[in-house]
Amino acid sequence: MSKIKVMDEALANKIAAGEVVERVVSIVKELIENAIDAKADTITIELKESGLREIKITDNGIGMNNEDVKLAFLRHATSKIYDDDDLFNINTLGFRGEALPSIASISEVEVKTCPKDSELGTYLHIKGGKTLSEEQVAANPGTSFKISNLFYNTPARLKHLSSSYAELANVIDYVNKIALSYTNIRFKLTNDDKELLSTNGSGNLLKVINSIYGLNIAKKMVEIAGENDDYKIKGYISLPEVTRSSKSHMTTIVNGRVVRNSTLYKSINEAYSNYKEDTRYPICVILIETDPSLLDVNIHPSKLDIRFSNFDELNHLIKETIDNSIKDKLLIPNITIPEVELPKYENITLNIERETSEEYKNKLTDLINFKVAETDVNYNEDEADIKSEVIITEEGEKLPELYPVALLLGTYIVCENDEGIYLIDQHAAKERCNYEKVSDALSHPNKNVISPLVPIVIELPQDEIITLNENKDIFDELNISYEEFGTSAIRIITHPTWFTEGKEVEIMHSIIEMILNKGKDFTLAKFRDNLAKMVACKMSIKANTYIDKPSMESLINDLRKCKNPYNCPHGRPAIIHFSIYELEKMFHRSI
Ligand SMILES: Nc1ncnc2c1ncn2[C@@H]1O[C@H](COP(=O)(O)OP(=O)(O)OP(=O)(O)O)[C@@H](O)[C@H]1O
Ligand SMILES: [Mg+2]
Repeated sequence: MSKIKVMDEALANKIAAGEVVERVVSIVKELIENAIDAKADTITIELKESGLREIKITDNGIGMNNEDVKLAFLRHATSKIYDDDDLFNINTLGFRGEALPSIASISEVEVKTCPKDSELGTYLHIKGGKTLSEEQVAANPGTSFKISNLFYNTPARLKHLSSSYAELANVIDYVNKIALSYTNIRFKLTNDDKELLSTNGSGNLLKVINSIYGLNIAKKMVEIAGENDDYKIKGYISLPEVTRSSKSHMTTIVNGRVVRNSTLYKSINEAYSNYKEDTRYPICVILIETDPSLLDVNIHPSKLDIRFSNFDELNHLIKETIDNSIKDKLLIPNITIPEVELPKYENITLNIERETSEEYKNKLTDLINFKVAETDVNYNEDEADIKSEVIITEEGEKLPELYPVALLLGTYIVCENDEGIYLIDQHAAKERCNYEKVSDALSHPNKNVISPLVPIVIELPQDEIITLNENKDIFDELNISYEEFGTSAIRIITHPTWFTEGKEVEIMHSIIEMILNKGKDFTLAKFRDNLAKMVACKMSIKANTYIDKPSMESLINDLRKCKNPYNCPHGRPAIIHFSIYELEKMFHRSI
């Protein structure tokens, strides 16, 4: 007798559910996506006990007729693609015809739906994939799903659910991101009747950013827009002074789909890397539009990731667009006294990992309470215009006129002008100037070299000398020539002119160390950049060095000439600003 049997549909659905429905947010995501595909412009998500007890999603979309709603729960039943060609030209969020049967196989589903032109709608009640009742009922146009008893028949899954706090955090994160993607749709999210998000469907992205992150962040977002033959991108990215320690506030939306794509995050982050430290990430909402045939949307079970067919084009566009949008902005962080503000959505770590700590729970409780309080007072958001605080600079003028007054703690140059007080970190500023100088010298190498008067001899073990000999081409690129000197040393014959006097040996040691430790992903451009950073740091004045006023002036002048005078090459700020307004506020002299 044959051992192989085709499994029945209920079992197949339950297995598929293992991939599609992992947690509360998976259900919320699938149902919201269906509502969007059904062209709804109002979508309400009501949770009970973070969705663990009940998830209700109501939309005013096209609805389903009696026949379709029953078909919708069959595996591979979809109205979205009909043939192979459609699979390579997907314009909808769903296409697999899997979500509803999967959800219905591991929970209890009640659906009420009614097409726009129909008097009567359909009510279906399904549990574990079996229809318990079906009725014709009076209903509003659109569809409403109620999901309860989640994972009642898959105890292992039920056990795997995180704390209600973590489940809710993930739902908030997802709904926020989808609200950022569909600014024309009115979204409302509640948990146990507490409102967590409400957007007005006005189509204004900055207003949605405001409802999620608050006014202080919205005011510090820079608009970006750019296009090339294949891609069109637009959105907002935060000023470098507003960065976060995780990538979770980078929202990327491709053809209306919220995606988590590490190469995309990397590209955005690199575009921004001149302005911030490596471990910080911007808050951004970036919408990417492209021909669907350039995407493979079918590579992830929950459709959370996609594959681009010519990513290089997109990568280039992202870098160029972000750079263009930031480069004419005055990027001196303005120090503001924080208003007493309760934590907002972005202050909680929306970790995909399961998170149960007390601190985390408290943060989330604050968040939930805050949202309720906020909607009471802040309802006029619709009318209120979000005034951007981003200042655009005149062409070529990156820093205002600054008059140095004194040096504090051997580190900070105090300057003043009509706009208030500025503090310049002299080490960071010097490092920036040196970095740009060395970068320039490295990318436009001239053949001018120096033969050191005092021989530079560097002792090294034989194996390292062999490694250096293998990398002679890098030394050639840098215009450095050397010869072996005895059995365990090399002697530098010539080096480029940009080596700082007195620091030659130190610089040579660093170059050798970098060559010996060069990793697999070595590129000459990256090597040059790291070299410029390292040399800049070695050449710069350290903190705690007292310099006189003419030296301060000349440093400020050099800084003014830099392409990016705002940060040291490692992304730390070189200059900060206390405006007269903020100073007066601090001393209670105004308002
Ligand atoms: N809210 C809704 N309004 C109108 N029609 C809906 C709604 N939800 C589901 N449907 C219909 O039910 C069908 C099945 O939905 P389901 O989510 O299972 O599959 P899908 O969206 O086609 O693909 P995927 O599995 O990728 O989500 C859809 O193709 C759509 O025709
Ligand atoms: Mg779907």
